[in-house]
Amino acid sequence: MSEVLNNIKTRRSVRNFKEEQLTGEQLDHIITAGLYAPSSCNNQYWQFTVVQGVEKLELLQSAISKAIGVTNYHRFYNAPTLIIVSTPREYELGAFDSSVALENIFLEAHELGIGSVWINQLIGNSDHPEVRKVLQLLKVPDNHVAWGSAALGFASVVVTNDRENKGVVVYA
Ligand SMILES: Cc1cc2nc3c(=O)[nH]c(=O)nc-3n(C[C@H](O)[C@H](O)[C@H](O)COP(=O)(O)O)c2cc1C
Repeated sequence: MSEVLNNIKTRRSVRNFKEEQLTGEQLDHIITAGLYAPSSCNNQYWQFTVVQGVEKLELLQSAISKAIGVTNYHRFYNAPTLIIVSTPREYELGAFDSSVALENIFLEAHELGIGSVWINQLIGNSDHPEVRKVLQLLKVPDNHVAWGSAALGFASVVVTNDRENKGVVVYA
């Protein structure tokens, strides 16, 4: 099996993280993986916003809680780092470009022994007033909408690798 396929097959979402922070070098590699993702027409309209520090993460968590109307929304499973991927509001392919960038991020993180999971709750909520206030503080441009985000850190639980594949493959 190729190293790439092995990496893809052994990555699993992690939903419980230690406090330990990523090193600058690890973060740099992970961001580079995102930056090198394919994008439509090589537009690369994305911004990768790295959020670290409990205070900022809690501000965002609290704003998301209000936007989605949930009082006990988790703080990104206690991940020490969150990378928000955003693109200009009017760019209709932003979700696709952001998704492939996120997969690159997840795979590079996994290669480095770092756990990750997609965080979905910013989608459709970037323009909620409470969320926008925090996005402004985090330097996400006002004309950007956030797509998926990557919660990143070291797993504090053992994640089993079991996965049943349900996708359909047809050789036509
Ligand atoms: C579009 C999308 C949205 C997702 N949203 C969340 C989320 O908000 N919270 C979460 O814990 N996992 C989320 N996930 C992760 C999936 O639940 C996970 O990838 C799936 O269950 C397969 O498990 P695996 O990643 O361990 O292979 C999301 C994944 C995708 C692709």
